[in-house]
Amino acid sequence: MSKTRVLTGITTTGIPHLGNYAGAIRPAIEASQAENAESFLFLADYHALIKCHEPERVRESARSVAATWLATGLDVDRVTFYRQSAIPEITELSWILTTIAAKGLMNRAHAYKAAVQDNLENGDGDADKGIEMGLFSYPILMTADILMFNGQKIPVGKDQTQHIEMARDIAQRFNFIYGDTFSLPEAVVDESAMIIPGLDGRKMSKSYNNTIQLFETEKKFKKLINKIKTNSLEPGEPKDPEGCTLFSIYSAFSNEAQQADVRKMYADGIAWGEMKKFLFEFLNEELKDKRDEYNRLMADPAELDRALKVGAEKARNVARPFLDEIRSKVGIGGMVF
Ligand code: TRP
Repeated sequence: MSKTRVLTGITTTGIPHLGNYAGAIRPAIEASQAENAESFLFLADYHALIKCHEPERVRESARSVAATWLATGLDVDRVTFYRQSAIPEITELSWILTTIAAKGLMNRAHAYKAAVQDNLENGDGDADKGIEMGLFSYPILMTADILMFNGQKIPVGKDQTQHIEMARDIAQRFNFIYGDTFSLPEAVVDESAMIIPGLDGRKMSKSYNNTIQLFETEKKFKKLINKIKTNSLEPGEPKDPEGCTLFSIYSAFSNEAQQADVRKMYADGIAWGEMKKFLFEFLNEELKDKRDEYNRLMADPAELDRALKVGAEKARNVARPFLDEIRSKVGIGGMVF
């Protein structure tokens, strides 16, 4: 039986937080251990350029994301792990696909539409003010990421399913014009993906500025946990774990028996200060070896580079011959004349 090719990208903006870990990184690493899957996982650093024009931050984020995945157990022998920018075939394919992607299709992309909407709501006469072509064409680059490797199952967040539909559309159009070439990708949305609350109780998200970085120093980590908002019940008063931020975060990292114990502590009136201390110690135990490994990798970019080079080589071995075939189908390259 041939293996299913699972492919996904991580846009390298920002530094991973607890919510990214529980909701995306940990499940993806678990999934990559499945026997019947062949996983391609990459750092979408060219996508990051759409959102950030500060080279130092672009570099820092890519490094931090790479170190996080490696420190949390990604096995580079099993998974093809690479930087998008190390595979020039992807950007070349992106152009070829741009020549057949309908502009009208791109007009409908959520990210672009939201930016236009913002401009109109701000009373701006120019609907496209401040919108770059990178944002507009973003779904085409994403399509190239997927089609370059004939990715079949694409694990993504709900907000990305539209892009996978677009990738299918573009693949179909290519196949129609030039003959059967690409398999049609399918989005896989994990409905049970864990969403954990942040410091203020809303979903942990960079846009709410309420995150706890996964590999914060121990001291800062403790401080942040102490800052998590709770209600004002006194020590000794029974407390409700449902809707409690501390308990929700705890639940994302513990099993049912452990949760039952903590429910009992709540019923018995544990003080918030004590619960915070308990949560800190629990999470710290879970993260401390991984944090050490993360720090080690961050201090040794050469090792990160080596790991990613292995992946880039594996990926290019697939991409190069396939791109040759694609180029020749569209009438470019080889012995044309
Ligand atoms: N756009 C995706 C996100 O923001 C990341 C991404 C880039 C991606 N290329 C991809 C995901 C290809 C899946 C497949 O989450």
